[in-house]
Amino acid sequence: MRFFIDTADLDQIEEAKDLGILDGVTTNPSLMAKSGITGAKNIEDHYKRICELVEGDVSAEVIATDVKGIISEGEYLAGLAPNIVVKVPMIKDGIKAISYFSEKGIKTNCTLVFSPGQAILAAKAGATYISPFIGRVDDINWDGIALIQDLAEIYAVQMFETEILAASIRNAKHIVDAARAGADIATCPLHTILGLFKHPLTDIGLEKFLADHAKANS
Ligand code: G3P
Repeated sequence: MRFFIDTADLDQIEEAKDLGILDGVTTNPSLMAKSGITGAKNIEDHYKRICELVEGDVSAEVIATDVKGIISEGEYLAGLAPNIVVKVPMIKDGIKAISYFSEKGIKTNCTLVFSPGQAILAAKAGATYISPFIGRVDDINWDGIALIQDLAEIYAVQMFETEILAASIRNAKHIVDAARAGADIATCPLHTILGLFKHPLTDIGLEKFLADHAKANS
């Protein structure tokens, strides 16, 4: 499983990169706004900075919702850096645009996927990635991890090449469960990645090793 970080915050991207386990970045308009990045020029510069920082794929989301607008915005974003992936919403015009991008060899991430039917459409259109939002599925008392399992099964049976990028990950358990369910990638806020480290027995064990070493060497 690959790890992307789900943020537009450069310090957090840097911290995840320093761990040596970062494979890419996803952003969305909410995350850009949360980091205080507003205005076309600032947004463009920010994407360029992220792409310089990280070698892997960086998802940049379009704002347009009509096919012409998605295509022109997506081509512009794709031109900013070679590792930009155009993030397109799961709507009719989005699927048309993904088909177009796929023919042109432009990588895409189909976002706001909540059902197997939507995932099939995105794969048929040639999306590079789909982003099922598991936390938001859980929020409405459905099962986000069961959705990942369904998608992984369908994509395997049908031999679709689209990769499952589990998104809207809220805790470390989501990452582990998404890995078991067959997600190719998990895109996570930094705190959920750091949550994977935590185990009380590791802390207790390390404290004892260090204390024993100090006692034996004093
Ligand atoms: O990758 C999608 C993510 O940013 C949405 O997360 O927690 O707002 O559902 P959340």
